[in-house]
Amino acid sequence: MTSSRNRPLWVGTSWKMNKTLAEAATFVDELLAVPIPSGIQVFVLPPYTALASVRSRVPEDSPILLGAQNAHWAPEGSWTGEISMRMAKDAGATLIEIGHSERREHFGETDRTVARKAAAAVAYGLIPLICVGEPLAVRDEGGAEDFVRVQLQIALSELAPAEISQVLIAYEPIWAIGEHGIPATIDQVAPVMALISDVVTVAAGGPVRAVLYGGSVSTQNAREVLSDPNTHGLFVGRAAWQASGFIELLKLCAPLSGAGAGQSTIYSRTLPWTTTAALL
Ligand code: PGA
Repeated sequence: MTSSRNRPLWVGTSWKMNKTLAEAATFVDELLAVPIPSGIQVFVLPPYTALASVRSRVPEDSPILLGAQNAHWAPEGSWTGEISMRMAKDAGATLIEIGHSERREHFGETDRTVARKAAAAVAYGLIPLICVGEPLAVRDEGGAEDFVRVQLQIALSELAPAEISQVLIAYEPIWAIGEHGIPATIDQVAPVMALISDVVTVAAGGPVRAVLYGGSVSTQNAREVLSDPNTHGLFVGRAAWQASGFIELLKLCAPLSGAGAGQSTIYSRTLPWTTTAALL
């Protein structure tokens, strides 16, 4: 299946709460020193403190997209400690990660706030990267697919079909994420990816931009994960926090990307939006 991809493979990393400005610069310089394999859409989500400086370090014509790990739905105002979509865009974001399980668990993010944020991101011309995924107890009871279906339906509920077609989805089972994560097997991932594909295809009236998998992705399991036909990319944490690890993954993914199939489209910072004009 992987050899017949006819769309770009999305491979990106969130740095989570890591990296000083100097560490961010080192990562970016190392990444920029290697060619980005054609057919792979690379993205990096630095912390807010480093976003603008990373933006200024990445050349305008680089295919590397940048984004933020969260943003508020309100355009501005008295929201101490928060950052709006407009501010994120101004600092260099093209993508906005929304609803990561760590934000849901530790910062009160709910399906409803995810929906509001997805709508706000689209209104500002940003690409929402909507994260969904079930806890271990739900999976153990056989409820993973129903759980993810509901998360997804609510997350997309404030978007029109044409807007839904522009989103990125990341399936990240909570039990597979982070230091204590148990890497998922393809047999565990594939049915949920198929379900996500069905839900978004109905909601969008066609395919969405891409559906990614995340949770303990590494060079050990990337190839297996990408053998699933409904998986269009990888969302990576720890294994990509050093540029060398990220570059190794990109190299591994290059032959799986369908580059050479003639249909890969790499997006630039000026993305093709067909929906709401930015409210700037
Ligand atoms: P991990 O993180 O690769 O370190 O498990 C993935 C994620 O949280 O997106």
